[in-house]
This record gives sequence, C-alpha cells and structure tokens, in this order.
Amino acid sequence: ATPTATPTAPPAGSPPPGAPPRTMQDVRRDHERLRERIVAGDAAAISRQHALGKRTARERLDLLLDEGSFVEIDLYRRHLGTGLKLRTRPHTDGVIAGSGTVDGRRVFVYAQDFTVFGGSLGEAHAAKIHKVMDLALATGSPIIGLNDSGGARIQEGVMSLHGYGGIFRRIVAASGIVPQISVVLGPCAGGAAYSPALADFTFMVRDTAQMYLTGPDVVHAVSGERVGHDELGGADVHGGRSGVAAFVHDDEVACLEEVRHLLSLLPSNNVDAAPSAGPCDATTDLRPRLAEVVPVEPNRPYDMRQVVEEVVDDGEFLEVHRDWARNVICALGRVDGETVGVVGNQPSVQAGVLDIPAAEKAARFVRFCDAFGIPLVTLVDVPGFLPGTDQEYGGIIRHGAKLLYAYCEATVPRVQVVVRKAYGGAYIVMDSRSIGTDLSLAWPTNEVAVMGADGAVNVLFRRELATAADPAELRAELIAEYAEALMHPQYAAERGLFDDVIDPAETRAAVAKGLAMLRDKRAEPPRRKHGNIPL
Ligand code: HXC
Repeated sequence: ATPTATPTAPPAGSPPPGAPPRTMQDVRRDHERLRERIVAGDAAAISRQHALGKRTARERLDLLLDEGSFVEIDLYRRHLGTGLKLRTRPHTDGVIAGSGTVDGRRVFVYAQDFTVFGGSLGEAHAAKIHKVMDLALATGSPIIGLNDSGGARIQEGVMSLHGYGGIFRRIVAASGIVPQISVVLGPCAGGAAYSPALADFTFMVRDTAQMYLTGPDVVHAVSGERVGHDELGGADVHGGRSGVAAFVHDDEVACLEEVRHLLSLLPSNNVDAAPSAGPCDATTDLRPRLAEVVPVEPNRPYDMRQVVEEVVDDGEFLEVHRDWARNVICALGRVDGETVGVVGNQPSVQAGVLDIPAAEKAARFVRFCDAFGIPLVTLVDVPGFLPGTDQEYGGIIRHGAKLLYAYCEATVPRVQVVVRKAYGGAYIVMDSRSIGTDLSLAWPTNEVAVMGADGAVNVLFRRELATAADPAELRAELIAEYAEALMHPQYAAERGLFDDVIDPAETRAAVAKGLAMLRDKRAEPPRRKHGNIPL
C-alpha cells in the first residue's frame, strides 16, 4: 500500500485577478479542512490497520488519555527526504505527539502511526519524539511511547539511525527523573527495541506486538533456524522468558487501562510524591488470616501473594513481571494510602530460591522505587541462592550482586519483614539490617542462620559423627542443639538485627507504623559521578 499524501493548504495570499478577495472566514475554513483531513488519516490504510486487529495511533491516545485532554504538537511536520518510495510527504510523518492528562495529571506521549510508512522512524518523526521527551523532562512529567513501527526508515538512511540515537540518549538522560513507559502494540524491530528496553516499564499485547533485534528472515539467513514472528519476539516470550516486558495483555484496551493504573501509583517525577489515596487506619488493622496463610514448617510452600494481599490496602497490588522470575514477587501497592514497592520471595515457585532472573528482576525494581522515592517493603522467606553449575556458569555471583548493590544504595524508607526463614547470603541480600534496612521485623516462627541445621552439623562435627558409636543419635542431638542456640528470631533480636518480633496478625499494622515513622527520611546522595553497579 502507498501512503497517501495529505493535501497542502491553499496559499493564503492574494486571490486570482477578478476573484473576490478572500476573507478571514475563507482562510479559517480552508485551514480547518486541511486539519480535519490530516487528523482523519488515510481511510484505506486505517482499514488495513483495523483488519490487523490494531487500533490507530489516535484511537490509542483516546484510550490512554483523559477525554479531550490531548494537545498535539507538530501535526504539520513532514519529512524532507527524496527518492525511493518517499515521493509522498504525509503530514505527522507517522507519529502523533503531544501531551495530555491521565486522571488529571500531565503526561507526554507519542504514538507511532503504522498507517504512514509503517510507522517507520525518519528524521522528522524522530525530531517530534525528541521534542515531547524534552518537554516531559522540562516539566517533570512521565513519558509514554506507543510503539508500532517497522523501525528505522530505510529511505532516510543514517538520519533514521541518528534519530534513534537521540531518543536513546534522552531516555537515559530522563532515567530516574521522570517515569518512562513503553507500550509495544505492533512490530518493534531492530534497534527500535532499545526504547522499550531502556524504559522503566514495558507493556506488550499478545498476537499483535513483536519485538526483536533481528527478524525471522535474518535469523534464518544467519543460522538456518526457522522461527515465526511471535515465537521469536511475541508478548509471552518477553513477558515470560526474556523479561523485557513487565506487563502483557490480551488486547489494547486492557493494556492501555493498565498503563493508566500504573501511572496512578507513580509520582510524576523524582521530586514529587506519588498521589496519595488518603490514610485508611492501616496502623490498627489486624490480619489474623496471615497466621493461616503461612505454614509453620519451613519447607512447605504457600503463595506469598496472599501475604502481600493482607499487607497492602484493599488487598490490591500491581505485579511487575508477573510471569518472569516468578520465584520473586515485585509489586506496587499502597499502605495506608501511600504507594509502596513490595519485594517478596515466592515459596510456591522453586521454594522461593534466588536465581539469576530473580536477582535481576528484584534489583531493577528496587532501583526504580529508590529513584522515585517509593518506600520498599521486603517480605523475606528465602532458602538461599540456587546452587549448581548452570547458575555459577551463568554468573549468579555477578547477577546476585546487582540486588545486593540495589538495596545497599537505596535511600528510601525500607522495612524488612522476615516471615519464616532467611539463610546465608540470601538473608543478607533481602534488605537485612547489615545492608541498611531502616526497620526489621520478624515473625516468631522464623529461622535465620548461616545455613540449615543439617548442613551446619555436617560441617562442624564431621569428625565426631564419623567416629560416633551411634551417628544418627548424635546428629539428632547436635541438630537440636544448633536449632536451640541459633535458629530463632530472638538470637537476632537480642543482637539488634530485628527491631521487633511481631505476631503475624500484626504485620500490616506494624509495616504501616514503620512507614509512618520513616516518612520524613531524607538522605543526601553520595558525591560521586555514579557508582559502578555490576551490570
Ligand atoms: C520504510 C517501511 C519500513 C521501514 C515498513 N515499511 N518498515 N518503510 N522503512 N523500516 C513500510 C512498508 O514498505 C509498507 O509500505 C508499510 O510500511 C507497511 O509494511 P508491510 O511490510 O506491508 O507491513 P507488514 O506486512 O505488517 O510487516 C510489518 C514489518 C515489515 C514486519 C514491520 O514491514 C518489516 O519487516 N519491515 C522492516 C523491518 C526492519 O527490518 N526495519 C529496520 C530494522 S533496523 P507500503 O508503501 O507498501 O504501504 C533498525 C535500526 C535501528 O530499526 C537502529 C537503532 C539503533
């Protein structure tokens, strides 16, 4: 299909000889018609877009933004390219850009328009995106990009690549200053995929969205492997395997509604607070169900989401990366009306062990919360790091260090609750006192130690057990002695590592009181260019 050129406005200058002079009304009417034609777009291309199961850029913005709030910029912008298939010069240049509000709060947006040159990005298209990104940063407002594009506009050559570079540089410059959300609603091929990769949160829609650096044809040419678009880079691939997409939805309506929901939990920038829903008596709210949710036996699985439900207001939370690294939970919710980030081990998946994806997922979430002043609540029930060659060869030391680093540098209010157990390095990493938590609470059931009793007795008493008359009896005695001496919360509480040992039912109230106590926490950033997080 050939993109249709939008007609140019008739000159507003002198009328032909003999014709009646043009009035202001004539000029206004012509301008209005031109504008209407540009906004209406190319009907045939729009039908093709709908036939693909996709909405147009403007329909998507209508879903995302408060009604009537969109202020468009650069409607008239057109490319200056020539040659190949660039004989037409459609207005907008394939991206609708501007600003609007979500629940009354300002955001800046761009929506790529696949009906114009396949939404491909050339010089003018990129310049429009640069402009809204600059305005977002200048006004301290979130940036939301709706991606539906064939990538770099081939006919504009290196200027397209230059345009992408300008976007990436701006994303990085705005990182940690304004929230950045990338929504993939169609193809997002080649280097274009780095916009979602650099954003704070990426959304994808099943079946219609694909993201990959090299498409199926290139994959086949290089390696002989045959793979389809969806199998290579569909929403479930990035939501469940690669971890590039934080949220996956079945359709655009649900997806854009969730973007609005996410924004409602976030501050507009790193200086403002997230919108408050107002206090709701959380500090006196007892939750006896918590004692039933968590089994007392350390190895019995349960769903940590049920604990999160009891801790946050109205049991409501938004899970980030729900289907990736499911052995750790990262969620945004509210406690006593204020946004918090919750990190929790998930005993129902791989016993809640920490592995490479879990460490990466939690580390990025902790850093996001820290950058945007969102307090952290860490719910700990962790048997340790996952052992094995897979993990060691894959660099669990390096990846686990990301989580350690993220917590160590976080200056937001931090509350740790050790629900049942915490062993070894995983105890330290999950926001322990030693790495700077502000308030550490433990349930009376829990075990915290360098290692479990079995392993500890083997290391400490190997010789004695080898020569014992009755090794089994001696082992049982030593295990009991070890547990009695070390594996109870009082051991840590006596030494100030837990600030309190609480009844499970008091967890929500104790977390709410702790966060209230820490609300005015302030910390100066260290005077350095930046740290060197192990990437
Ligand atoms: C110019 C493009 C284009 C592109 C699509 N079009 N991609 N025009 N540059 N990159 C045009 C098509 O020519 C077509 O124009 C219209 O958009 C619709 O495309 P179709 O192919 O008909 O649509 P569809 O079958 O749905 O396929 C979509 C697609 C495919 C999978 C995205 O178009 C495609 O593979 N495009 C190329 C993807 C790519 O390799 N991009 C460059 C990646 S490299 P007409 O006139 O026929 O309607 C890159 C580098 C960035 O992006 C580096 C940054 C660091």
